[in-house]
Amino acid sequence: MKNVYVAGVGMTNFGKSERLGRELALEAAISAIEDAGIEPKDIDATYVSSAFGIGENQVHVGPLINSALGIPDRPSLTIESACSGSSAAFHEAYVALSSGFYNIALVVGYEKLTMNSTPENTRLFAMASDFWYEGLNGVTFPGLYALMATAHMNKYGTSEEMLGSIAIKNHRNGFYNPKAHFRKIIDMDTYLKSPVVAYPLKLYDSCPFSDGAAAIILINEDAKIKKSELVKVLASVRSGSMAALQDRNDYTGIPGAKIASEKAYKYSKTSPEMISFAEVHDCFTIAEVMAMEDIGFFKKGDGGKASLEGITQFDGKKPVNPSGGLKAKGHPVSATGIAQIVEIYDQMLFRVDKNRQVSNPEIGLTHNVGATGGSVTINIFRRLK
Ligand SMILES: CC(C)(COP(=O)(O)OP(=O)(O)OC[C@H]1O[C@@H](n2cnc3c(N)ncnc32)[C@H](O)[C@@H]1OP(=O)(O)O)[C@@H](O)C(=O)NCCC(=O)NCCS
Repeated sequence: MKNVYVAGVGMTNFGKSERLGRELALEAAISAIEDAGIEPKDIDATYVSSAFGIGENQVHVGPLINSALGIPDRPSLTIESACSGSSAAFHEAYVALSSGFYNIALVVGYEKLTMNSTPENTRLFAMASDFWYEGLNGVTFPGLYALMATAHMNKYGTSEEMLGSIAIKNHRNGFYNPKAHFRKIIDMDTYLKSPVVAYPLKLYDSCPFSDGAAAIILINEDAKIKKSELVKVLASVRSGSMAALQDRNDYTGIPGAKIASEKAYKYSKTSPEMISFAEVHDCFTIAEVMAMEDIGFFKKGDGGKASLEGITQFDGKKPVNPSGGLKAKGHPVSATGIAQIVEIYDQMLFRVDKNRQVSNPEIGLTHNVGATGGSVTINIFRRLK
C-alpha cells in the first residue's frame, strides 16, 4: 500500500448561511486546493458527501463542483452515509490513493439545513434511523440518544453533571474557534437549567442543525506537489452496528466504533495510550462519553467521570474535541467527518487559537458515526516533523 497524506484543508464558517449548499461546498474546496498549493487540474478524482441535498432540490453535486473548478472530465462520487458521509467519502478516497489508482483526490462534505424548521429537520433526520420501526413510531434522534443516556446512567452512574462538563468544555473550545456555530461560554447552572429535549438530554446536550462545508486534498506518495506540510494517514477503518437500537443487546456503547478503533490501532501500530488528541462524534454529550469508552481512552463507564475531572480539556492529559465538537462547532451532518480532519491538520500545523491548541499533537484520531452507529469511521493521523 502507498503512503497517503492530507496536504491541505478548507472549511466554511459553520452555523446559519444564506448561501446554497453547493456554494459552501465550492468555497471549502477552493480553500483546500489553495492550501495544498495545487491547481484544480492536478485533481484525479473528487469525492463529495451530502445527506439532505434533496431539501435543496439538489443531489449529484460532484459534477457541479468539478464543473465549477474547470475539471468536468474528472470522475466524481457523491456519497451519503448519514452523519458520517464525508468520512465514508474520505475512506473511499484513501482506498483509491493507497492502492495507487489515483494520486490526488479532493474530498468535500457539506450540508444545508437551517432553511428547514426544527420539526422538518427532525423528520428528515429520522430517515437515517430504521425509519419504519423507529422514526415512524415517533422516536427521534434526540430520543434514541436519550435511551442510550438513561441506559448509561443506570448501568454506570453517569450523572447530569458529567454530561454537563462535556457541554461546558465543548462550548468553551468553540468560543475560541472562529468558524464555530456557537461561540458562547456556558456554566453548569446554565446547562442544568436548559430545557429538556428528550429526557435526560437537554438543549445544551444537543448539537444544533448547521449549514457548512469542509474539504481536504488527499495525496499519495507518488503525487507531485510542492507543499511539505503534510499529515500522514496511519489508518482509515469503517465498520457498522445493527441499524436499529432495538436489535442491540446493550445501549451503552456503539459496537461498530469499538470494532473499527481496534482495527485502526492494529493497522497503525498504535494504541489508545499513544493518541495525543481526538475529535469524536458528540452529537449529544452522551455520544462523547460512549465514544471515549469505545475507542479505549477510558474504561467502560468511566468516560463521564474523566470529563468531569478535566482530563479531556484541550490542555488536559487526553484532549477531546478541541474544535468545540459537534456540540459547539456545529453539525452540518455530511461536513462533520472532514471538519474533524481539518481540525487534526490545523492542530498538527499549530495554526489554531492558542486557547485551544493541543500542546503535543503528534497522533490524532477521528471518530465519526452515522445515525446511532449503523456506520462508523475511525481514522488515525500522524504529524510529520
Ligand atoms: C436542540 C434542538 C431541539 C433545539 O431546537 P429548537 O428548540 O427549535 O431551537 P431554536 O432553533 O428555536 O433555537 C432557540 C435558541 O436556542 C439556541 N440553540 C438551538 N439549538 C441549540 C443547541 N443545540 N445548543 C445550544 N443552543 C441551541 C438557538 O441559537 C436559539 O438561541 P437564541 O434564542 O439566543 O437565538 C435542535 O437543535 C435539535 O434537535 N438538535 C439535535 C439535532 C440532531 O438530532 N442531530 C442529529 C444527531 S444524530
